[in-house]
Amino acid sequence: MDSTYFKRYRMEVDLSVPRFAPALPSDYRLVPWNEAVLDIHARTKFRSFRDEIDSLVFPCLGSLEGCRRLMREIRNKSGFLPNATWLIAHGSTPETLQWCGTIQGVAERGGTGMIQNIGVVPGHRALGLGTCLIERCLAGFRMHGVKRVSLEVTVENAGAVRLYQRLGFRRVRTVYKVVDEAVVMA
Ligand SMILES: CC(C)(COP(=O)(O)OP(=O)(O)OC[C@H]1O[C@@H](n2cnc3c(N)ncnc32)[C@H](O)[C@@H]1OP(=O)(O)O)[C@@H](O)C(=O)NCCC(=O)NCCS
Repeated sequence: MDSTYFKRYRMEVDLSVPRFAPALPSDYRLVPWNEAVLDIHARTKFRSFRDEIDSLVFPCLGSLEGCRRLMREIRNKSGFLPNATWLIAHGSTPETLQWCGTIQGVAERGGTGMIQNIGVVPGHRALGLGTCLIERCLAGFRMHGVKRVSLEVTVENAGAVRLYQRLGFRRVRTVYKVVDEAVVMA
């Protein structure tokens, strides 16, 4: 069976350098982790990723059930870090509430932190929400004593690569994710 190779960068940031925490735009607020918001993370992840390149690279991101499974896997990792796991909500009443962004963090063996998935729902992008989610996540890692944080990004995802570079992440490795052609063409 033919395969497609997606080029990805592993990027890292050094947390010993002081960071600037930006404010959220008005009407948006950060919501911390608790067990009751697992499904909200999954739904927000799905709405953020379903039409994006990473839903080809990781087909689970293209379905709600896949996102639910992935969120449960992240939650069950031994290094899952509630302080590095956040949602962004918009609106102050139940009628106007919208979930707009999600990020999760896991502390790995060896003292490195790993950002799992960051997603901002279309319609709420380019407002600084992605920047706020990353800074809040990094602050959570720092509280936990983590010194370096890494993530992986698909090279084609130029906006995300630019965001990470702007926030001080540097490329440390190039990796390739192999996906069956049948999955990419489906
Ligand atoms: C990547 C992603 C998380 C970025 O989220 P975002 O909320 O748009 O991020 P930000 O708003 O902080 O930054 C995006 C851009 O908006 C700009 N921006 C930030 N605040 C702004 C404001 N108030 N007014 C205008 N532009 C602004 C930033 O400078 C940045 O510009 P750039 O693209 O030229 O670098 C989002 O596009 C996404 O969810 N994509 C799909 C899922 C995905 O690919 N996730 C990454 C997986 S590795």
